[in-house]
Amino acid sequence: MTDARQGLTGLLDTEAIRKDFPLLDRTVHDGKKIVYLDSAATSQKPRQVLDALNTYYERHNANVHRGVYTIAEEATALYEGARDKVAAFINAPSRDEVIFTKNASESLNLVANMLGWADEPYRVDRDTEIVTTEMEHHSNIVPWQLLSQRTGAKLKWFGITDDGRLDLSNLDEIITEKTKIVSFTLVSNILGTVNPVEQIIRRAQQVGALVCIDASQAAPHMVLDVQALQADFVAFTGHKMVGPTGIGVLWGRQELLEDLPPFLGGGEMIETVSMHSSTYAPAPHKFEAGTPPIAQAVGLGAAVDYLSSIGMEKIHAHEKAITEYAVKRLLEVPDLRIIGPATAENRGATISFTLGDIHPHDVGQVLDELGIAVRVGHHCARPVCLRYGIPATTRASFYLYSTPAEVDALVDGLEHVRNFFG
Ligand code: ALA
Repeated sequence: MTDARQGLTGLLDTEAIRKDFPLLDRTVHDGKKIVYLDSAATSQKPRQVLDALNTYYERHNANVHRGVYTIAEEATALYEGARDKVAAFINAPSRDEVIFTKNASESLNLVANMLGWADEPYRVDRDTEIVTTEMEHHSNIVPWQLLSQRTGAKLKWFGITDDGRLDLSNLDEIITEKTKIVSFTLVSNILGTVNPVEQIIRRAQQVGALVCIDASQAAPHMVLDVQALQADFVAFTGHKMVGPTGIGVLWGRQELLEDLPPFLGGGEMIETVSMHSSTYAPAPHKFEAGTPPIAQAVGLGAAVDYLSSIGMEKIHAHEKAITEYAVKRLLEVPDLRIIGPATAENRGATISFTLGDIHPHDVGQVLDELGIAVRVGHHCARPVCLRYGIPATTRASFYLYSTPAEVDALVDGLEHVRNFFG
């Protein structure tokens, strides 16, 4: 942090970056400039991504993998080109390991269903166990509850410590010889915690369990190298990483994708079909039934180009500086309690808090009148709120375009909220 008071971290040219994002220029409530602090819910989009979407529709729109005419070939090249870009972005050993879905929820549901319909040695049944954590987004809890209900497999989870970390004190009791799959988030969408992936994966590997990582809150913010992670599946979504909505990614190890059965059936995912049976196309197409989200994939490709042109290390360093500054400033606000790690160490740029007895919805509404956009509620992670005995939190989340000046605006806004409610 070089000079927080000037609204700069000195690590990224935020002023130039912000010019790429038309929405950040918007005003609300009679000319109040928007202070967008909800990138964990969805990020804003740079012109480069908006242009890629427009150009796709204006110049190349056709269905993929079907037509022999020029624009159909162009559309296919753009769609498959986006797969190459995503594969490079996450350092996937093969482009065929990148499956396009509609969002991270669909990616996680896909893994749960692949395993639910699998034969040995992947089969999940009443003699096996599924492991997740209390820190998950609902999209990494509910698919496993459904799988557990369908198969009789036991669902187990790691708890959370008072300071917002995963409680791994019972690592060997939760992950056992019966565990088939361990699915957990790399970065919590509500607490901001960055989880100790290596420790969990090491234990899972000891017992031969598969590992699925929800990287929705990681892929936009840090270098995501699936080879270094050593997981079996990694899920994330496009709209949180400056891409469009309607596009998600599931990365999976090639041999698993070859062995595991498809979930959705339809066009595109087959090799041959007769009225009696069908054979399937190789991965990734085996898992992409129907017309895929073509424009959205192209938009995600442009998003990946945009983030890469700035550099994920730089983005991460900038966000770390903003987080350090935000944690420090927020802790100065009387009655404010951070829900999650009250430090910038091993945490992402998402900070949840409560403010005395003031209901988060009231906090959010008063902040909105000042032009400040935060998310309030349980953030699709209700078990976390239950764990801390609170109905909801206010959550501020920062990204590459966020500035320390916006942290100051939030802190001033919270003072206003406190005065407003006496
Ligand atoms: N998963 C998004 C969030 O945490 C919507 O806000």
